[in-house]
Amino acid sequence: MQSKLSVVTGAFGYTGRYIARRLLDQGESVRTLTRSPASRSPFGTQVETRPLDFGNYEQLVASLTGADTLYNTYWIRFPRGSLTYETATSNSLLLIRAAVEAGVRRIVHVSITNASEDSSLRYFRGKGVVERAIRESGLSYAILRPTVLYSLEDVLINNIAWFLRRFPVFPIAGSGDYPIQPVLVDDVAQLAVNPGAKKGNGALGAVGPETFTFEELVRLLARRVKRRVWLMHLPPSLTFLASQMAGLLVRDVVLTKDEVDGLMAGLLVSADAPTTSTRFTEWLQVNGANVGRRYASELGRHYR
Ligand SMILES: NC(=O)c1ccc[n+]([C@@H]2O[C@H](COP(=O)([O-])OP(=O)(O)OC[C@H]3O[C@@H](n4cnc5c(N)ncnc54)[C@H](OP(=O)(O)O)[C@@H]3O)[C@@H](O)[C@H]2O)c1
Repeated sequence: MQSKLSVVTGAFGYTGRYIARRLLDQGESVRTLTRSPASRSPFGTQVETRPLDFGNYEQLVASLTGADTLYNTYWIRFPRGSLTYETATSNSLLLIRAAVEAGVRRIVHVSITNASEDSSLRYFRGKGVVERAIRESGLSYAILRPTVLYSLEDVLINNIAWFLRRFPVFPIAGSGDYPIQPVLVDDVAQLAVNPGAKKGNGALGAVGPETFTFEELVRLLARRVKRRVWLMHLPPSLTFLASQMAGLLVRDVVLTKDEVDGLMAGLLVSADAPTTSTRFTEWLQVNGANVGRRYASELGRHYR
């Protein structure tokens, strides 16, 4: 019997890689839509590679044809050059339209907690628009709303540890008492491929079991990487400036203004009950020796 075909956007990237791994482990056939060449596949020839080219709609439809489920992780972390949140939104709508035309049965879409068309933050607003397009698409759907993802390769928590390992001072925007609720990336992948995500329409928080204040999280990381670091409370604008200077050092965008604002507005927590089980504190016990050893570069991933 032929195994079911799933299409995953960005299977050589971050979340998509964990989703693809779990689908392969379940015996499904996996095709990815990505700008990466097949030679960058961590799965050898197990995952079929097709281009993620929004300029070629017919090709998108052809690449989605035959798929039962589309696992969509496509989004941009920040605008750069001609690629804005508005472009990312219209690209997402095009992908959804192509999935409908290709006869895809279901979409499992990775959104973000607190996505809203009314948000003053463009990242969250664009996500809200895409969520609505999915609800109105006629496709069967599951929308996952993660808080902030972590692993040894993530660009926020892992990179905070990277800075803590190297510098005696760490800037904190404002009081640092705003909440953050990390969720393990592989737990999100598990939710995505879970049989529960395969039927019925709805949105589900992808939420870890522990919430910290941002300062608590930084202190936890500093303890785990065994560093005594001075946490310097700064106005948000100066913290952002410091992150831009750090960006020059690592040749990356370390933090965006929307991320600082979203974090301080308490948008990186969920009102939903936790849906995943890995506790950040326990993960840190096991991974403390390795977290922050390697800097994870967003520009390196997507622009070089
Ligand atoms: N990372 C987090 O902490 C977090 C938290 C909450 C929600 N999310 C959501 O989770 C989803 C996956 O995030 P991720 O961090 O795992 O993303 P990712 O793997 O870095 O990228 C996911 C997909 O978006 C494409 N993409 C990303 N940046 C791009 C760019 N600048 N130009 C063109 N294509 C780009 C990738 O294309 P290629 O395959 O060609 O690289 C890939 O198909 C996103 O929808 C994000 O909003 C993430």
